[in-house]
Amino acid sequence: MHDFTYYNPTKIEFGKDKENNIGRYIKEAGIENVLLAYGTGSIKKSGLYERIVASLKENGIGYQELDGIVSNPLLSRVNDGITIAKEHQLQAVLAVGGGSVADSAKAIAAGAKYDGDVWDFFIQKAQITEALPVFTVMTLAATASEMNGNAVVMNDETKQKYSIGTVLVNPVVSVINPELMATVTPDYLAYSAVDIIAHSIEVYFTASTHPHFNSRVVESIVKSVIETTEILIEDPDNYDARGEFAWVATQALNGLTPAGTAGGNFPNHMIEHSLSALYNVAHGAGLSIVIPAWMKWYKEQNPAQFERFAKEVFGLNSADAGIDALEAWFSKIGAPVRLSDADIPRSGIQALAENASQSAKLWGMGEQYPIETIAEILEKA
Ligand code: NZQ
Ligand code: ZN
Repeated sequence: MHDFTYYNPTKIEFGKDKENNIGRYIKEAGIENVLLAYGTGSIKKSGLYERIVASLKENGIGYQELDGIVSNPLLSRVNDGITIAKEHQLQAVLAVGGGSVADSAKAIAAGAKYDGDVWDFFIQKAQITEALPVFTVMTLAATASEMNGNAVVMNDETKQKYSIGTVLVNPVVSVINPELMATVTPDYLAYSAVDIIAHSIEVYFTASTHPHFNSRVVESIVKSVIETTEILIEDPDNYDARGEFAWVATQALNGLTPAGTAGGNFPNHMIEHSLSALYNVAHGAGLSIVIPAWMKWYKEQNPAQFERFAKEVFGLNSADAGIDALEAWFSKIGAPVRLSDADIPRSGIQALAENASQSAKLWGMGEQYPIETIAEILEKA
């Protein structure tokens, strides 16, 4: 068991209708106005937008809006948000949407308190020392952005998809109402399932020290995702399955699973972000392509944990059988498992590997993952 600091200052408000209290939660934090950030239309279609605005008005919270945040969110739109936040001296950012909206809100929160270019934080040229408070109402469960300090944004000019991570942008309050997630499309349900599994297994396989408690939590996460996804494919309105899926998503990347482990990292995410950056594939869809290939490439470096995974998650007897079972399950739920499934040609591998190797350096994996190694992994996909 390694030393760690575990600090997660986010308050979760979980349950039906909780979004109607968002104005009160913001008011209780002493905030008078916000930037209301959202995506490309789902919250207007569902009627959620009206309820959020009503709750803000009821509590005397003023607001400016930033709409049109796309999946694989863009730096240009983050900059638009920073401009609005500065111009109107807004005191907080409220994200209503999925991870892309939440991540954009966090970047805006940091950028609004900074005189330089917000991209400085992503390329580690500057450190975040201050940020506006962030609030979220989640409409899609996958990233755990509702309870962590991470934000991933794509620089639309340089095609770099990079991240920041600081507790300063952990949401103050996040609302998780599983009912708001019932309209998530089957393809995004599948991508979300893959993403949640990815968040838990990255450190599970790569850490040099991994306490049994942590391993069991991860195995429980993976099994719960598999069970609840299969229920939701048949019955999207199943509240209990939707709720369990959402809470599992939050636990998979809120700091719980790696606490006490040592030496773990996120190579699949590092590689995937380049698939999203260069081919605009959904994050989870990129992961379901990268993960089986990476597992086949990496398994000999930690055979005991791969055997354990096969046995505990799938009741199977070998590392290879576990990898095959996970890949087959990704396919079964409709997630792509080969580059060709996402129309990415083999001739694109070199550029992907070059792009990802830049992230590898930023994430401290430059030596382990040079361009040739990343290309070798992608060849397996
Ligand atoms: O644009 P809108 O209208 O909101 O539509 C979205 C979007 O098209 C739609 N959607 C969201 N809620 C819905 C809904 N459609 C119907 N009903 C609802 N209730 O779903 C689409 C995808 O939304 P998005 O926010 O992009 O999905 P997700 O939550 O998976 O976020 C993905 C982004 O998060 C980053 C990824 O890289 C990617 O950019 N990540 C963030 C992390 C973090 N902050 O810790 C960690 C992750 O590993 C990940 O990298
Ligand atoms: Zn992810």
